[in-house]
Amino acid sequence: MARRKYIVGNWKMNGTKDALGEARAIFEAALNRQGVDVALCPPFTLIGPMVAEISDAVVGAQDCHAAASGAFTGSVSAAMLSDAGAAVTIVGHSERREAFGEADSDVKAKAGAALGAGLGVILCVGEPRDVRESGGAVAHVLAQVAGSLPDDFDPARLAIAYEPIWAIGTGLVPTVADVAEMHGAIRGALAERIGAGAGQLRILYGGSVTGENAAELLSAGDVDGALVGGASLTAAKFVPIIEAAA
Ligand code: G3P
Repeated sequence: MARRKYIVGNWKMNGTKDALGEARAIFEAALNRQGVDVALCPPFTLIGPMVAEISDAVVGAQDCHAAASGAFTGSVSAAMLSDAGAAVTIVGHSERREAFGEADSDVKAKAGAALGAGLGVILCVGEPRDVRESGGAVAHVLAQVAGSLPDDFDPARLAIAYEPIWAIGTGLVPTVADVAEMHGAIRGALAERIGAGAGQLRILYGGSVTGENAAELLSAGDVDGALVGGASLTAAKFVPIIEAAA
């Protein structure tokens, strides 16, 4: 089954309203690239302004709380993200798993809450460097996938992002063969779990994606797009990645 390529920018904790011009330029460029879905995930504070000020923007969040509402100071629910205009949210990014102690069970609850609120989900998995070096990367990632996926989900509304932790923000990238092996293993595990629907689910690669390496990474087997950090902050760096997917 043909899957549309999906290029997503994760702005992490970067950007104030001054950055809306970059987002506008990115979505204007994306409009001309048929066959590629493009989304930006800015900080919570920019979701509303980005949706309001940029026509055709597809805007996402970087996290959500698993509960719908309540005494969770500083947190934002999936319904609130939807209310602000978000269409999708990232869950389980390694920076949250590591810095905020999020376990697979937390990620699973967040993914379920987001889908329940009508959002799409980009669920992140990835191994640390020592696990890669000891040969345990595939087993580690498949265990994360098994533990983080909701029990029941529409594969057209959920993407998995494979982000090796050691490749994030480092300029290091796995070999194309290693990326293809991991994405193939994820697809295989999904097929065992959900059957033919696994062919609909998009598997993105993330970790030091740039305009220079995007075409090669996107050509690897079962790579359906990219989740991009640093190179998504400006149109000059992000548009070439979108073009590489087109
Ligand atoms: O979520 C995207 C990410 O963690 C990769 O970041 O800066 O290596 O592209 P970067």
